[in-house]
Amino acid sequence: MKDDLKYEVNTEQDVLWSVGEEQEKYTLILGQAIERYMEELRTLERRIAGDPADEEAILRDVVTLNDTVLKVCAQFEAEVKDENVIKATRSYFRKRTHPLLSKSYAINRIRTWPQGYQGDYKTLETAYRNTPMSDGIGYYLDKYILDWPLAHGLRGRLEKLTELLQAEFTARQDLKVLDIACGSCREVSMLVPDIKRSKARFTCIDLDGDALDFAVKRFAPADLAPEQITVTKYNALRMFDHDIAQAEFGPQDVIYSVGYFDYLPDDFLVKLLRSLYQLLNKGGKLIAAFKDADRYRAQEYHWIADWDGFLQRTVKDFERILGEAGIPVDKMTMTRDRSGTIVFYSSTK
Ligand SMILES: C[S@@+](CC[C@H](N)C(=O)[O-])C[C@H]1O[C@@H](n2cnc3c(N)ncnc32)[C@H](O)[C@@H]1O
Repeated sequence: MKDDLKYEVNTEQDVLWSVGEEQEKYTLILGQAIERYMEELRTLERRIAGDPADEEAILRDVVTLNDTVLKVCAQFEAEVKDENVIKATRSYFRKRTHPLLSKSYAINRIRTWPQGYQGDYKTLETAYRNTPMSDGIGYYLDKYILDWPLAHGLRGRLEKLTELLQAEFTARQDLKVLDIACGSCREVSMLVPDIKRSKARFTCIDLDGDALDFAVKRFAPADLAPEQITVTKYNALRMFDHDIAQAEFGPQDVIYSVGYFDYLPDDFLVKLLRSLYQLLNKGGKLIAAFKDADRYRAQEYHWIADWDGFLQRTVKDFERILGEAGIPVDKMTMTRDRSGTIVFYSSTK
């Protein structure tokens, strides 16, 4: 019986075949744009081999080619609207472009997730170091993505976070500090003299043991007293429960997290923020950073990269979430990193 027939979408091709007629035109336009993009990248690759000195002009062309194809991707999303079709088409785009785009160390990494998840510590370290790691066309593609607004945002975020923490260590001594989803703990390494002088005690937690090993190796030459930095493999989601957070970490003077809250759905994030704010001593500070979706183009992360884990939130969303977590507005200050893409909220208890 026909009614019993189940239609299952198994492959990207199946999904693409399900595109309605009025949408077909945009699939065609995008298909042609992808082929043109690849053709022009191949031409550029030959040019690089022939005249490697023409660096600025080549980089300008790489940027223009990517901007052009991403505009067509944005138009496709706006017209087609169907999330399944859009996801399958992004995946098709990445496969089709992979032979060339994978020549970029950075793009390959943010497409293939060698640590098994998006936004791992080496990916972030690549952005912090801001140095291309590939040859030929890969070199230019590395440079192109290191210039994305959010790549500037990651470097600006690190700088602003360091500044905010430094101000805490200047104002007060003996602070107990909790760094949630710490990754490579780069800001902690940069603050070693302040940590020593102010006798701060850090606890850094992350799920990725490799990130923690990397951080520990970097701390080693700093010769910090063992009680000054504790690095622990720990699932931050356990801290939703205030009693667990209290039992496992105890009260803190500064709690901060950057690059993690963007990945949590609203209800999880509200619970976690509420629990963290409760964990603060009186006068303590919760520092939370978010990516402002009004300040970057999501297509870069959804088409060139396979990095859709962070949610597209804006200032209105952050402030609603912080409010739902019970953090009083009059206890909160907001600032941005120098690129403007990252918003920091510091909430005092
Ligand atoms: C985008 S990175 C940010 C790292 C670091 N804060 C920085 O700014 O360089 C996000 C980090 O969150 C960690 N992470 C993801 N889920 C986690 C969880 N449930 N508990 C603890 N860490 C987690 C990842 O391992 C990763 O190191």
